[in-house]
This record gives sequence, C-alpha cells and structure tokens, in this order.
Amino acid sequence: MTEWWRDAVVYQVYPRSFADADGDGIGDLPGITSRLPALAELGVDAVWLSPFYPSPQNDAGYDVSDYRDVEPIFGTLADADDLIGTAHDLGLRVVVDIVPNHTSSEHRWFQAALAAAPGSHERSRYMFRDGGGEDGSTPPNNWRSVFGGSAWTRVTEPDGTPGQWYLHLFDSTQPDVNWDNPDVHEEFAETLRFWLDRGADGFRIDVAHSMIKEADLPDWEDDDSPMGGTAEITEDRRPPMWDQEGVHEIYREWRRIVDSYDGDRMLVAEAWVTPYERLARYTRPDELHQAFNFDHCVAPWRAADQRGVVTTSVEGSAAVGAPATWVLSNHDIVRHASRFGFPPASRGLGGIGPDDPQPDAVLGLRRARAATAFMLSLPGSAYLYQGEELGLPEHTTLPGDVRQDPAWHRTGGEDTGRDGCRVPVPWEADAPSFGFGPSAGTWLPQPPVYGELARDRQQGVEGSTLELYKAALRLRREHSLGHGDTLDWVEQWCGPQSLGLRRGDVLVLVNFDGEPADLPAGHRVLLSSGPLTDGRLPSDTTVWLAPA
Ligand code: NOJ
Repeated sequence: MTEWWRDAVVYQVYPRSFADADGDGIGDLPGITSRLPALAELGVDAVWLSPFYPSPQNDAGYDVSDYRDVEPIFGTLADADDLIGTAHDLGLRVVVDIVPNHTSSEHRWFQAALAAAPGSHERSRYMFRDGGGEDGSTPPNNWRSVFGGSAWTRVTEPDGTPGQWYLHLFDSTQPDVNWDNPDVHEEFAETLRFWLDRGADGFRIDVAHSMIKEADLPDWEDDDSPMGGTAEITEDRRPPMWDQEGVHEIYREWRRIVDSYDGDRMLVAEAWVTPYERLARYTRPDELHQAFNFDHCVAPWRAADQRGVVTTSVEGSAAVGAPATWVLSNHDIVRHASRFGFPPASRGLGGIGPDDPQPDAVLGLRRARAATAFMLSLPGSAYLYQGEELGLPEHTTLPGDVRQDPAWHRTGGEDTGRDGCRVPVPWEADAPSFGFGPSAGTWLPQPPVYGELARDRQQGVEGSTLELYKAALRLRREHSLGHGDTLDWVEQWCGPQSLGLRRGDVLVLVNFDGEPADLPAGHRVLLSSGPLTDGRLPSDTTVWLAPA
C-alpha cells in the first residue's frame, strides 16, 4: 500500500468556476479535463472536485438531487469518466465530494416524502416532526439554519392542510436525511461504490460532523455555525446537531467499503470541530484517513499562533496515527491573499462586501505567499484552492444583485456570503472572460485585477506566485517535506516574531513581523516566498534553506 494521501497536495476544483468549455459562463467537466495538464505541471498529487451532480444549484451543487449522475450544465457521465481517466493518465488522483447530511428537496426521496403521509416510511428518511402549539404552527425546536433563519420549514400536506415540519441545517431546499433509517445507509453505500467503480480515488465528506442529531432534538441556545464558527465541544458544551458519537459508526462502515477496493482509496472529513482531539477522533485507524484542519486556516498570522496550531495539529494527528492536514483557502472562506491583508486576528473568515473595510492587497499577497511556503514545508497533506497559485484575491466589491449564495439571500444581505471566493479563474489575460471560457460570460463577474494575475501572465515569470507554487511543490517532493509526524523547531529562530523549523535537510525560516533578519551562515536559499533584503529575511517572508 502506498498511502499516497499521507503527504498528498490536493487541489480543489470548484467546477462552476474553473474552466468553461461550452461558453455558457459556467464551468464544466470538459473544461476541467482540458486544463488538467496545467495541474499536472503545477505539481499537485490529486484533484478534489466539489459537487457536479444533478442539482437545482440552490447551494452551488451542495444540494444534490441525484448522487449517481452528472448535472447537465456540467456535462455527462461520459465526461466524468473522461475526466477521471485523463487525470489518471497524467498521474493525478481524483477525489469527489459526497454530501450525506442532506439531499436537495428535488431528490426523488424528498418528493416521495412530501407526497406521503406523516409517519410513513417515505417521511422517515428525513427529519419530519410535528410542530408545537395548539395547531402545530411553531417549529419543533429553536435550531437555526447555518445560512440564517429557522432550521425548520413547514410543509403543506397532500390534502392541502398545513402539515409537519422538516429539518434543514442549511437552506430550506436542503432537507436533512435521517441516518437512523437503514435505507439511508444503503443509498450512500451504493453511491460510494458507484464512484469507486468509476475510478474515484476518494471522497471529501461534506459537513461530516452533522449526520447524527441528539435524540429528541433538544433546543440549543448558542448560535453555532459550522462555517467560520467552529462547533466547539467541551464537557459543558455539546451542540445537539454537531459531532455526535453516532457519526463515527457511519465512518467505520464507509471505511470498510473503501478498504474493500484496491488502489488505496481515501476519505477526508469536512468537520468544523474543536478542540483538535475531537477532530482527530474522525481519523482513528478504522475511520477516515484525514480531516480538514480548519484550526489552521483560522490561526492568525503571528509566530506564536502559527507555532501553536502546527504543534497541536501534528501531535494530535500523530496520536491517532493519521497525517495532519493544512488548508488556507477553500470555496467557503475569504481567500487567504485577502484575509491576510487585515491586521492579524482582526476579522474572521466571512465574506467582504463593497461597504466593508477593504484588505491591503499587497500585504495580503506577501503574507499569503509566506503562509503557503510555510504550509508546504509541514508534515502531512495540504489542500490548495483553485486560483491561490495565482495569488488571486477575494472579489471584495461584488454588488448584491449578482450574489448567489443562499447565506446572502436568507439573511437579507447581513451575511455577505461566499461568492467572493468563487469567481471564475483567469487563464489568459487577453481573452474574453480572461480565458475562463470561449465567451465573455461568467456566472459571477471577475474583478479587473484577475487579468493581471491570469495564468499566462505568470507562466515562466520569475518571482510570480505561480512559479513560487511550482517550485515549492517540486522541492517539497524532492525533499520529502510532507513525510513524518514530528516537529523539530529551531529555538534560536523562535522569537516572538519568527519561527524556524528543521524538515529533514531543509531549514524553514519565517519572519512574521520584524526587522530583516540575518540568515544562518553555511546555507543556500532553495526557495523564498519573496525577495530578500540585502541577503536578509524581511518581514512576512518564508525561506527554505539547504546546507551550502
Ligand atoms: C459545506 C460546503 O463546503 C458548503 O459549500 C455547503 O454550503 C455546506 N457544506 C452545505 O452542504
């Protein structure tokens, strides 16, 4: 067994926004396939595709109406086969997304549940409950949707009378399924097998900490959003909708399924859970292979915070025999080139609108490059989000009328939402839609700066962010930087504003916020996230050094 995932660098493709082959302004599978050689050249090990399954797209595909087919705007099953086959030919693994907490309200099961009576088998595949009050007109409990508003919606029964309520932790078109029903286990097991049979190398599990709810669904007073607000579990604080014991049994079941296939397939959890020991429980030897480390992406850009999160993560994962993972950007949070353009710890991960304070773009990119160079030197597996290799910033001035995120709509604009990190990627500066597709159309508008940052403007250009990523990925592989599960801090570099870490034969130094620092003698620079100042390491810069 190769256990390739232990130190893999996985590149997240968000299908709507990666590459558009047919010119409708929305990315698609043939577009992705045509651009795979660029990812192989970048030097990543695997591609993770956000959902491309049939869906009314009320949550950009995280509302799945059929788990075993392809949404027509993205292509066909044959296109999916072609994508997987092409990726494999290029030496890239393919991880697909699975969304087991909820289906779309257009899923055949939910439609059958609506047509059936309260108490029926059809309804028992979801979380239907009677309402409170004399006429059942108040929601069964006080839970809030992560996207705003109540987590309950009342249905009209087939006879036209006001009826039961169903639970949706997300949008009202994303009803939560009931994992106490064996049908649900069978259905998802079949879906896993379907994509494993088609060659998928693994699954990213959406809201992996949510599938089981505490019995009786007790009220919960905290506002506890899993995106940008982690579900914190302590002795006194156990949210009834997150991180329940029962989820682990599901993952043991899934682990047996993937282990029955050849080729070292893997499972990775999206679970916003703290403290780290709670997260690590998802990666015990008979459960999932990895869990996303959101503690990493929320850690402020300060030496002590970064040292703290790296230490906790590496030690916490090693305790269960799993690799740590690292992530700075994804499709739910502000891109790190913009996030780091604010003073450390001054804001969270939530979206930025035109009326909000704007980030310092130059400082943000400088820190983002330093943070990435630090991340790619760490033991474990790293996740990149499409476009970060170009240093793309968040689109921070999207007008409200183009926004599509249900979080924006369900809160009347109070939550800016996640559209700003989902803007189509620029490939060629002088082409329509910056080469995203053959037409000028893009489902979200691209900011002008995306032209300057287009891939063709950076390809082969010394010092560009693209070339930095390529060099870092090549050197990470050559020096096996992802291997191991221990940390060797170089204490004379661990001042209040700097860090030093020995990774095999490579010495990694980060200056977070200080005067330019002398580099240790007897070394040569393998990689630098930005220019040195007279041979010294300036602030917000990371270097990798090798013995001279
Ligand atoms: C997490 C996904 O990353 C996010 O995009 C989605 O809205 C929610 N889960 C609900 O599926």
